[in-house]
Amino acid sequence: MNSSRLPGPVVVTGAASGIGRATATLLAESGVDLALLDRDATGLRETADSLTTSTHTEVCDVADSAAVAAAFANAVASLGPLAGVVSAAGTLTPGTLADTTDDDFTRHLAVNAGGALNCLRGARTHVRDGGAVVVVSSNAARVPRTGMLAYAASKAATSALARSAGLELAARGIRCNVVEPGSTDTPMQQALWADAEAGARAALHGSPEEFRIGIPLGRLADPADVAATICFLLSPAARHITLQQLFVDGGASL
Ligand SMILES: NC(=O)c1ccc[n+]([C@@H]2O[C@H](COP(=O)([O-])OP(=O)(O)OC[C@H]3O[C@@H](n4cnc5c(N)ncnc54)[C@H](O)[C@@H]3O)[C@@H](O)[C@H]2O)c1
Repeated sequence: MNSSRLPGPVVVTGAASGIGRATATLLAESGVDLALLDRDATGLRETADSLTTSTHTEVCDVADSAAVAAAFANAVASLGPLAGVVSAAGTLTPGTLADTTDDDFTRHLAVNAGGALNCLRGARTHVRDGGAVVVVSSNAARVPRTGMLAYAASKAATSALARSAGLELAARGIRCNVVEPGSTDTPMQQALWADAEAGARAALHGSPEEFRIGIPLGRLADPADVAATICFLLSPAARHITLQQLFVDGGASL
C-alpha cells in the first residue's frame, strides 16, 4: 500500500466503528494524518486514541450539510489541505415493501446518500488537485435484497451520485471511486442477526428463500479487507482508476 505517499491528510467519516475505523487504522499505519468524523463521540475517541499519527476529530451527523461543511473547514484549519476523503458513515434499518415507512426512506436517503453528497461537497472545496475520494456504498446498490428496501435504494443513489460528482472532479485530477462491500463483520452486520451463528451461516452458504447465493470465497469480509481496498483506491497505485464501482464481497454479487 502506497498511502504513505499521500500528499496530505485524509478525512474519514464513520470512523467510530467498523469499516471507517479499520480504514483510519490502516491509513495511520502508513503515516497519514487523519480527520475523523462520526456522530458517536465515544467510538470516535476510542479510534483516535488507538492511532499514532495526528488526528483531528469532529462529532457530527453526516446528513447535516452545514455541520459537515464546518467539520471539513475545521479539519483543514487543523491539518492542512486534504489529499483524500473516505465516506464510510452509513445506516441500515431492515424493512420490506410492507413495513418501510416514509421516515425510514427519508432517513436512509439523508444519511447514506446525503452523507456521501456532503462529503463530496467537502472534497470539492478542500481536496487538492490530484487527490482522491472513496465512497463506501454496498453491493445492495446493485443486487436486490429482501428486507433492505430503503437501504438498497439509498446505496444505489450513493453510488450514482459519487460517480456523477467524480466526473466533475476528474477535471482537477481528483479521482472518485465507489467501494461496494458485501457482508462484513461489523456492528452493522451483527445487528441484523438475531442468532449470530445462523445469520453467519445464511450469509456464507446462501438462503434460497431470500434469493441469496452465499459467498463463494466462503468467509465474511473482515473490515480490514474493505479498508485495504479503500486505501489502494486512495493511493498513487490507483492513479488511473476513477468512476469505478468495485464489489468487495467475496463473489456474493454473482
Ligand atoms: N457491514 C456490512 O456488512 C456492510 C456491507 C455493505 C456496506 N456497508 C457499508 O459500510 C459502511 C460502514 O459500515 P460498517 O459496517 O462499518 O457499520 P458500523 O455500524 O460498524 O459503522 C458505521 C459508522 O457510521 C456512523 N454513523 C451512522 N450514521 C451516522 C450519521 N448520521 N452521522 C455520522 N456518523 C454516522 C456510526 O456511528 C458508525 O460509527 C456503511 O456505509 C455501510 O452501509 C457495510
